[in-house]
Amino acid sequence: MLIKIIMAIFIANIAIASNLISVVKIPGNVLGIKAKSRAWMSTNFKKFSTFPMVSIKTNDALANKLNYQNGAKEVDIKAIYDGKNIAFLLRWKDSTKSVIGRMRTDDFNDAFGVELQTKTDTVPYVDFGDLNDEIVFYLKNANKNSVDIEENQDILSQFDYQNLNVFVKNSDEDLLPHVKQEVFLYHGFNNAIKLDTKLSNITMDMIYKDGYWYGSLSKKLVDKNSNLSNGTFLVSFSLYDGKIKQRGRLRNLTPWLLARLEGIEGGESLVEEVNHKISGDIKNGEKIALKNCSICHNYKNTRNAPVNMAPDLSFIGGYASIDYIKESILQPSKVIVPDFTDSAHPNFSWIEKQENGKNISVMPSFEWMNEKNLNDLLAFMQTLR
Ligand code: HEC
Repeated sequence: MLIKIIMAIFIANIAIASNLISVVKIPGNVLGIKAKSRAWMSTNFKKFSTFPMVSIKTNDALANKLNYQNGAKEVDIKAIYDGKNIAFLLRWKDSTKSVIGRMRTDDFNDAFGVELQTKTDTVPYVDFGDLNDEIVFYLKNANKNSVDIEENQDILSQFDYQNLNVFVKNSDEDLLPHVKQEVFLYHGFNNAIKLDTKLSNITMDMIYKDGYWYGSLSKKLVDKNSNLSNGTFLVSFSLYDGKIKQRGRLRNLTPWLLARLEGIEGGESLVEEVNHKISGDIKNGEKIALKNCSICHNYKNTRNAPVNMAPDLSFIGGYASIDYIKESILQPSKVIVPDFTDSAHPNFSWIEKQENGKNISVMPSFEWMNEKNLNDLLAFMQTLR
């Protein structure tokens, strides 16, 4: 009995610890520190997995393919804070350093992103947020020609939000400095507002050493976009490999991870929601998927559906929450993944425009499915990573 209890505690701790980043408190000031700072020696890296976003296809077929083939990829993360400010350091392997001097339409920089929640007690959709629960996204591009953030020029005019294929469209690099660091507020798929980075007092840095990128972000715990002083908060990390043309939505990202400020209580409700996992009969779940989903969705080796009939679900269990997947199955129209370029999937629209102007998903609801089968299906979806 005792052994059982100890085992249960042990297993519970592993489940919680696996997505937890302990933010170590250090004396001094971490605001403005960069990737090379000695302050990082106060704590160790912890390994996490990132997964390629493959659900949305772009017009660039080669990039779509390379992005898919990239598969899951590891990132090491550590974090420190000083009571008022916080800093993250990422380290990831990249044997091909892509720092382009001259911007061409088919060349892309290595880059990384840090995504934070804007509210303190809810779990927003990872990657895109929504109107009621926005996320803030910090993006850093490796670029030797870029200007310092404080002297940033107006790059708004260069950024085309409708076309997420590119970070920057730039034909004359002498006139327009490359973007180095940007902050966006996401409130839904394809809905991003670029924020004025001058006001947000953030420092992002990227250095390349011995086949690894190191990327850092330092910022205040509390600013007008987020309040991270609550003890535990959500964070997600994105990696972009320029060599395989990752940019915009085409990237590798972690699911929501929990960052916990050492010594501060709070945010426990998030822990439970983010750690929500399903146990069920995976084999049965796979059968259910084959029967009900594979006519439209491709995933892993199951490729019965015409290409672009529906989002590819090969990595959905890696970055999406189980609650999001469940919602997608029961209420497909609540969040509709946009088929944002007609030419990316010209034959199959994912959205049905109704007469009243409302859009609905072409995916049917599976509300009729019995609880056991739905549960097994979710258990299977979790394995897609
Ligand atoms: C008739 C075709 C069709 C069927 C059948 C179908 N889907 Fe979908 N599904 C879609 C389309 C189109 C979208 C994109 C639009 C949207 O978000 O609703 C989608 C979106 C999704 C998403 C969100 C993907 C993302 O990247 O965010 C999930 C998860 C999903 N479906 C799971 C399922 C599961 C599980 C089944 C089987 C029980 C299923 N679907 C059956 C067409 C289908």
